[in-house]
Amino acid sequence: MKILLLGKNGQVGWELQRSLAPLGELIALDRHVVGGLCGDLTNLDALRETIRQVRPGVIVNAAAYTAVDKAESEPELADCVNGQASRVMAEEAAALGAWLIHYSTDYVFSGQGSMPWQEADPVAPVNQYGASKLAGELAITASGCKHLIFRTSWVYGARGNNFAKTMLRLAKDRETLSVISDQIGAPTGADLIADVTALAIQQVMHSPQLAGLYHLAASGEVSWHGYACHVVGLAQSCGEQLAVKAINPIVTTAYPTPARRPLNSRLNTQKLRENFSLHLPDWQSGVTRMLTEVLNK
Ligand SMILES: NC(=O)c1ccc[n+]([C@@H]2O[C@H](COP(=O)([O-])OP(=O)(O)OC[C@H]3O[C@@H](n4cnc5c(N)ncnc54)[C@H](OP(=O)(O)O)[C@@H]3O)[C@@H](O)[C@H]2O)c1
Repeated sequence: MKILLLGKNGQVGWELQRSLAPLGELIALDRHVVGGLCGDLTNLDALRETIRQVRPGVIVNAAAYTAVDKAESEPELADCVNGQASRVMAEEAAALGAWLIHYSTDYVFSGQGSMPWQEADPVAPVNQYGASKLAGELAITASGCKHLIFRTSWVYGARGNNFAKTMLRLAKDRETLSVISDQIGAPTGADLIADVTALAIQQVMHSPQLAGLYHLAASGEVSWHGYACHVVGLAQSCGEQLAVKAINPIVTTAYPTPARRPLNSRLNTQKLRENFSLHLPDWQSGVTRMLTEVLNK
């Protein structure tokens, strides 16, 4: 089986290079042209041509426009990468009879309330990034291609920048940190997302009725403030020398950003766990593992 991976160097894409490798012949692209193949999601014609040339049995799209604040001033670009390119992949997957595996976000929801979102809950994105990701979801479902869409949240990886690493860096320099305490979600490892993706692809090949939309996040919930406290506490217990003496909780309204953020990022993962017989570990275990790697302890 040929697998075409787009966005190979993002947090999730990097981990997918590892987890998809045993499933088949992996052709992994970033936005550059390599061997006549183009993985740039702003070049829709070249993207279409690339899929026709490779003729994959599975397309895994880990590429996305993920700059949430910048998307407010670049809505067309966000829509092209997250919406229109997803439509092109879906149309080509449908024509080939291939599977399309795609990632989306809890930012398709309004963020209201405190109940974990279920797959069928009404969507109402509060920012351009969320709207562009929703456009991608809708294009894929409308295309009729065989697909899995995983909505996830608060993604981190050992490679690249993430919230935990930023907190560590700030905690080394500053005595006081102020961190948002009224946005709630579950930090989810790119490695977990990639592992679940590989397991789900294997199962869906034999059980195509499992196709559809799923929520994929680590278990449990925490605020950014609680997440920061966990990171700092762990670093201290590992013997890191930190300057920080206080981590103050602040509300979202005290930290204005170009894009509005949903307060409730909780995702109900029951459908994924039951349909694929999977266990999703608590968020602390993944974050602890990533930090241990980063701190090299
Ligand atoms: N990060 C989160 O907290 C989060 C939360 C919920 C859902 N998600 C979703 O999860 C998926 C994976 O996210 P991630 O955290 O792995 O994102 P990421 O680390 O930001 O990676 C995104 C990748 O997409 C690539 N990309 C951007 N524009 C492109 C273009 N025009 N053509 C080709 N590639 C392009 C980037 O390449 P460059 O490095 O060259 O720019 C990067 O490698 C995405 O669908 C995202 O929407 C993420």
